[in-house]
Amino acid sequence: MPAQLKSMSKAKFTVTAALPYANGPLHLGHVAGVYLPADIFVRFLRMNGHDVAFICGSDEHGAAITLRAKKEGITPSEIVDKYDGIIRKAFQDFNISFDIFHRTASEIHHKTSQDFFLKLYENDKFTEETSEQYYDEEFQQFLADRYITGECPKCQNPNAYGDQCEKCGTDLSPTELINPKSTLSGKTPVLKTTSHWYLPMERHEDWLREWIKEGKLDGVQRHDPKAWRNQVVGQCMSWIDGGLHSRAMTRDLDWGVKVPLPNAEGKVLYVWLDAPIGYISATKQWALNEGKNWEDYWTGDRKLVHFIGKDNIVFHAVIFPILLKDHGGFILPDNVPASEFLNLEGDKFSTSRNWAVWLHEYLAAYPGKEDELKYVLTSIAPETKDAEFTWKEYQTRINSELADILGNFINRALVLTHKYYEGVVPQPGAYTQEDLSTLDEMKQIPQRISKLIYAYKLREAQAEAMNLARLGNKYLADQEPWKLIKTDPERVKTIMYVALQITANLGIVLKPFLPNTAEKISSMVNFHSSDWGLAGNSDQLSTGTTINTPEIIFQKVEDSLVENEVGKLKNANMVESNFEAQKEEVTFDDFSKMDIRLGTILEAEKVEKADKLLKLLVDTGIDKRTIVSGIAEHYSPEEVIGKTVQVLLNLAPRKIRGIESQGMILMAEDAEGKLSFMTPEKGFSAGGGVR
Ligand code: MF3
Ligand code: ZN
Repeated sequence: MPAQLKSMSKAKFTVTAALPYANGPLHLGHVAGVYLPADIFVRFLRMNGHDVAFICGSDEHGAAITLRAKKEGITPSEIVDKYDGIIRKAFQDFNISFDIFHRTASEIHHKTSQDFFLKLYENDKFTEETSEQYYDEEFQQFLADRYITGECPKCQNPNAYGDQCEKCGTDLSPTELINPKSTLSGKTPVLKTTSHWYLPMERHEDWLREWIKEGKLDGVQRHDPKAWRNQVVGQCMSWIDGGLHSRAMTRDLDWGVKVPLPNAEGKVLYVWLDAPIGYISATKQWALNEGKNWEDYWTGDRKLVHFIGKDNIVFHAVIFPILLKDHGGFILPDNVPASEFLNLEGDKFSTSRNWAVWLHEYLAAYPGKEDELKYVLTSIAPETKDAEFTWKEYQTRINSELADILGNFINRALVLTHKYYEGVVPQPGAYTQEDLSTLDEMKQIPQRISKLIYAYKLREAQAEAMNLARLGNKYLADQEPWKLIKTDPERVKTIMYVALQITANLGIVLKPFLPNTAEKISSMVNFHSSDWGLAGNSDQLSTGTTINTPEIIFQKVEDSLVENEVGKLKNANMVESNFEAQKEEVTFDDFSKMDIRLGTILEAEKVEKADKLLKLLVDTGIDKRTIVSGIAEHYSPEEVIGKTVQVLLNLAPRKIRGIESQGMILMAEDAEGKLSFMTPEKGFSAGGGVR
């Protein structure tokens, strides 16, 4: 065994996959970049007898959640319940083998992250700073992170967020934005004083440099820095070299983990503080369930590995390590295999434009085809550069690789065994040179796969596993047992024996990548093994073993599927929208109850001490009535007199600033909140109905 593999062979692992935000379903980009590679890695580790914990869960705090709740018109807690359910089920159906899929909304998580915060607070790891931050006066809320947008100072993208410009990737703070706007009211925010606890990251530059570049912590070698992807080291170093600054670890929000200090009313932990601690609280819950000791998974000579997407790099390779070290008693990550992005049919995945293939929708549309998707996604995995998913490639990979190479080989081997020997493994004769070199190649493949997987090269590792099927195909094609059966039936026994050993080994080496398929193959040859150490052996199936009748493992993908899926995408590709999602459905009866008519404004005056209100006298065709309307910022009294507008007549009267308002003027509103009357064409006058 090569020395590098030997040092790995006894290692214990805690493997995490980025906690998905419970603000939407998962799409194939998430799966290809994070969850599938993590699952392959973990399945492989388990087969090699490593002690491993595989941890994930929903990330249920932060602006990502509250903004989504606002958009869907339901509460944050309804949002996280809804999406946690969808995500959880999709992972289950897709056969991702987490030891636990937990939630940051759980009590154990709130407690764990509060204790973590307190420990750092008590040991003076935070600084308390008072600063001026943007505030939305209409919504009476501070505007952190995604609550504020504006122009990026670096690339002039007009829609940069308060924490990041998604166009150029720059990490921003809200005060750097040019022309900031609140995403709540659309208005320009004001500055208001608030105080928060900050992580003074500048204190940590020196050890971070040594740790990331050389893998050393306090002079002790902790990991092999060459094993980290260039992109990960590069992003971290450019961040550190640009100078680290203190970063607020709390927010003025009412959704999240409450800051566990007196006088911290209305403040919660920053989501990027609480979420990674979610890995720890999930481990605690799992250990409780399993009767294990959670600390074993976060201390000692264990390797901590974080599978993430590239937008999470600094949080996992800089900020979380600072927090873990400041807290003390925790290991730091051994590796942070971050992926690049996956694109879809020539464009970025986009939730708002619905340019996505959703995992749960795929699973519902193609039940039993989980491994087909896994195979394609791993074949194009965006490990070191951006990659692209197309339905055409999905079809090609399945038809010409899974079906034509893997499926074809297994089918041939099994069908011929049934045809020649009634399904019983024959007795081999002496091996020829070709047999020996084929068997030797078969032996090397699992070792090459091991080396690749320990180096986080899962795409190449899967290709190497497929090489075993290629080897089998070539072997049969070269040996032509179907011809020899007439002239040299003894020789055919040896050929079929070798082909069956290759088949049995495929049932092992495909297991990390295509677990369902590997199971089918193993069942067909009546040989089950989860021991990677046995992979490649040339006598897996002994003479006399009966094998089962073969079934076709992979159906070909028709052109119509590709056309369908691409068509669906193009239809669903809606415009990027700043508008609210559609409201709950109403019946025609509900609608008919509303009495909407045309009314002509006869008189108008400002309401005293109310900037927004006009008091109107409206001719409705059946009466003249007073209506108070919030349009004073858009129309002056002079402008509105004589206008014919739409009025909701049967709205229950209510007092506004002491004036009884008997109805409501209906207005059109644009994305910026500007209002306009909906005046009919000329010739329509007061009293006409609106339907
Ligand atoms: N929810 C984040 C995202 O989807 C990832 C959080 S990972 C954790 O980008 F470490 F914070 F949990
Ligand atoms: Zn930018």
